[in-house]
Amino acid sequence: MTNQSAQLIIEGKSYDIPIVESTTGERALDIRQLLKQTGYITFDSGYMNTGSCQSAVTYLDGKNGILRYRGYDIEDLATNCLFIEVAYLLLTGELPTQSELEKFRHDMIRFALIHEDMIHFFDHFPPNSSPMSILSTMVGSLHDFYPEMDLDEDPYGGVTTMTARLLSKIRTIAAFSYKKNIGHPLVYPRADLSYCGNFLNMMFDRPNMPYKVDPIAVSALNKLLILHADHEQNCSTSTVRLVGSAGVRLYPSISAGISALWGPLHGGANAAVVRMLETIQADNMDYMKYINKAKDPNDSYRLTGFGHRVYKTYDPRAKLIKQACTEVLNSLNVQDPLLDLAQEIEHVVSNDDYFISRNLYPNVDFYSGIIYRALGIPTNMFTVMFALGRLPGWITHWQEMHMDKESSRIGRPRQVYTGVVSRPFVSLEDR
Ligand code: SDX
Repeated sequence: MTNQSAQLIIEGKSYDIPIVESTTGERALDIRQLLKQTGYITFDSGYMNTGSCQSAVTYLDGKNGILRYRGYDIEDLATNCLFIEVAYLLLTGELPTQSELEKFRHDMIRFALIHEDMIHFFDHFPPNSSPMSILSTMVGSLHDFYPEMDLDEDPYGGVTTMTARLLSKIRTIAAFSYKKNIGHPLVYPRADLSYCGNFLNMMFDRPNMPYKVDPIAVSALNKLLILHADHEQNCSTSTVRLVGSAGVRLYPSISAGISALWGPLHGGANAAVVRMLETIQADNMDYMKYINKAKDPNDSYRLTGFGHRVYKTYDPRAKLIKQACTEVLNSLNVQDPLLDLAQEIEHVVSNDDYFISRNLYPNVDFYSGIIYRALGIPTNMFTVMFALGRLPGWITHWQEMHMDKESSRIGRPRQVYTGVVSRPFVSLEDR
């Protein structure tokens, strides 16, 4: 809180609206007493101007393209850490010591299996089911497979049995859904592989063609998961908080977040970008046709992978992923014409006033799919990869919401009603 306030005058009466200030200097009008004081609510569809909570997890500066997890710049974390280190940082607020990391690493090994009865679920999804619907279903069902063992001493205390179990098992669920989808035998997690190495091995190992975990692929995956690990109050994280605020336990709350992430305007965009690039490639590489469609006010077509609600400059994650694209493809000796096409589109867009005037830059989803392709991950699994990365962020916000007395009250927005005011009932025979 500051000791300053804004003056609001309604029908000649003046009201003091307190001003709150973040630790980074941003200021907000505190309207928590507005309805009680004035009888008015505010109206802000899409919550463009509305802060839903106070949070100490992640800081975004959309104007300057800054992203920090618990005060650490994303560039430092993506360059120097393992994904499980960053997951630990988000959950606890501190980077782990060597012994804390070893214990967390052991938890990731210990909890990697899923209940054998869960495996039968995979047999009953229709063929070609979306891996996102499978992931959301399976994660929600963890609540029933592990109900009693989740009553941690402090369920909101950072790294707990419940959170370690989910972080570890989500890899297994994702990889098993892929193997089932391609009709290959399941590959079980191993004790001698890292968090990312285990996932890649579960995805690509085969009895007839053993997979050799490639350190370049492991390093690329660590970086990608770190860059997706949290992003303050985005749509899916806000969903996890809202569902959790009703008293819903962790696993079903995360299941709701997975469903929200699925949307093509949100986490589904990484797959939509590659599909857009493939469409343009198949259309004689006529990218100007699609750029012009995106600019046409009478066409709802969007250049997916561009634009962001908060970033009005280059998404810092996109910058790092774009750099990694070239490094990973060169190291893996992969040629992908879609990368050249993506870079050409970015070049044209960056000089086009329609995009410049609307602050439309590449976001986290524009280049990430190019790396997933180089790692051999199919397009329909891209948003699952986003979910694997975002999971520690979702869990942390679910915990933080519960630990804050105010934000753990059930979320319940109001509305501006625009329907019929009132009318007498008409019986069926008189209609
Ligand atoms: C993620 O919130 C987060 O932090 C999300 C995320 C995270 O880590 O959790 O960063 C992950 O979801 C990234 C965004 C992925 N989505 C896409 O790439 C889909 C394509 N982008 C857009 O649909 C759009 O930019 C959004 C959804 C990302 C943001 O939408 P906004 O903030 O509601 O902006 P808007 O739709 O009001 O657009 C403002 C103007 C409009 O033009 P005008 O009406 O002013 O003429 O910009 C135009 C839009 O038509 N515009 C685009 C465009 N994005 C916005 N025009 C063409 N192509 C685009 N991609």
